[in-house]
Amino acid sequence: MGRKKLLVGNWKMNKTILEAEVFAKASLDLSAFAEQREIEIGVCPTFLGLKTVKEINPKLIVGAQNCSEFDHGAYTGEIAIPMLKEIGINWCLVGHSERRSYYGETNEHCNAKIKALIAADMVPLYCVGETLDQFEKGETKAVVEEQIRIGLSGLSADDVRNLVVAYEPVWSIGTGKNASKEIAQDVCGYIRKLLRASFGENAEKIRILYGGSVKPVNVKEYLSEPDIDGALVGGASLAVESFRELIANIGE
Ligand code: 13P
Repeated sequence: MGRKKLLVGNWKMNKTILEAEVFAKASLDLSAFAEQREIEIGVCPTFLGLKTVKEINPKLIVGAQNCSEFDHGAYTGEIAIPMLKEIGINWCLVGHSERRSYYGETNEHCNAKIKALIAADMVPLYCVGETLDQFEKGETKAVVEEQIRIGLSGLSADDVRNLVVAYEPVWSIGTGKNASKEIAQDVCGYIRKLLRASFGENAEKIRILYGGSVKPVNVKEYLSEPDIDGALVGGASLAVESFRELIANIGE
């Protein structure tokens, strides 16, 4: 069963609303270009940019970078899922390593958010990956296993139909030290095995992305691996030209 290729830009805390608007206008061409190549594309702007980007280019997947696991209430500074849905946002990153390391997000928080997103019929893009220290100690698979086991606990095979997982080794994020395609495939293949053990054949439908210093020059090597269905890209997703090159280099 073919999994459609997926390229998602995580803009992190970059681009004002006006800057996001400029990208969104240019992305109309990008969407057409990606469609010809049968690649789905998306971006995750800040909360402020979501509505503008989605309105300008409804074809683009537009995802939030985070959400609350609660629907409403006394949670100062948080954004709830119904608020996202009201402005047409159906995707959301969960557990990005920057949220885990700077804001104390745990696998249990991720699990609550993923459950809330699935209950709201949204697509969670769940990020996992080990730190440099864990990598050097050979703990990668144990760390990822725990992130997957706890993060996805209590979900049924039907629940994970729309789930997307991103493997982002922390040591490769923003460092220019991208993981080799062999390492990336080894871990993404392992993630698929874990998903199969929990969700049976529905695991074949779950797209697994690699993220960490993905650039136009290296994107294709990841996509040619059997268990890597796309990329989650930070820095190289910010400029329209670089985004276009990513699409072009993934190829048909
Ligand atoms: P870079 O592509 O800038 O390394 O960031 C990767 C990332 O964290 C995407 O979520």
